[in-house]
Amino acid sequence: MTGPASTDPASTDPASTDRATRIRYVTADGARRYAADLRHPVARVITAGERRAVRRAVAAAHRRSSGDGGTHVAFRDMVWLDVAAGSGKLVDAGLPPRRIAVDVSAAMLAEDRSGHPAVVGDARALPFADGAVDVVVVLRLLHRCSDEMVRAVVAEGLRVARHGVVISDVRPTPSWRARARRVLGRSPAPIGRSRSRLTRLVADSGGLVAADLPTVPLLSSGRVALITSTESRFRVTKPLLNH
Ligand SMILES: C[S@@+](CC[C@H](N)C(=O)[O-])C[C@H]1O[C@@H](n2cnc3c(N)ncnc32)[C@H](O)[C@@H]1O
Repeated sequence: MTGPASTDPASTDPASTDRATRIRYVTADGARRYAADLRHPVARVITAGERRAVRRAVAAAHRRSSGDGGTHVAFRDMVWLDVAAGSGKLVDAGLPPRRIAVDVSAAMLAEDRSGHPAVVGDARALPFADGAVDVVVVLRLLHRCSDEMVRAVVAEGLRVARHGVVISDVRPTPSWRARARRVLGRSPAPIGRSRSRLTRLVADSGGLVAADLPTVPLLSSGRVALITSTESRFRVTKPLLNH
């Protein structure tokens, strides 16, 4: 009998890894299950840590934007894209209310009851103009994707966002792996990438890691990074939302 398919980005071909991630939650059943799983007590703790880390990263992007000539806005007025938004985990994260959800799965977006605008779209080709929003957030997508996908999504985020791209990744250090093995009684799934590898991929995409925050240090190997552009691009475009 064979075990479950490996999710190690290095062990399968990149296109099929990314395709598997893309179609994982396309059905209504899959989307409902994902939303229900987030209500588990352990998931709630991890979600709280993720929300806190994303909030801090977006606040850091906002602080940095004060140097960006005419594009600085008040924190509450920032427009941001929640890319790979899923069922709307970030709706109650204390982030600015001008949120647009983007996900490749319409079924996932249907689980998001926030009433925020939602667009079916691919993180590698966002249907928005250059510099259309203040920040792009991509939570819980890239740790299951190939290096090519990370490069493409980061570059696309930097194209669309004036002040930075916030992504999550998973950084299973040897000590975290050992702890997880003790708790799970088996080796944790080999997903994620090292800080140096992520930094290299981000640099390939024209970005740099400006902040790097743990989500729930003892429970999870998740991290949230703020990526800013290495180019100085002060673009002013029309606001997308006026509510
Ligand atoms: C694990 S869920 C994370 C959802 C949400 N960000 C969260 O943290 O709860 C991954 C999401 O990425 C979406 N997704 C996968 N591939 C995508 C792509 N290429 N472009 C946009 N969304 C994608 C899936 O449909 C799914 O909703």
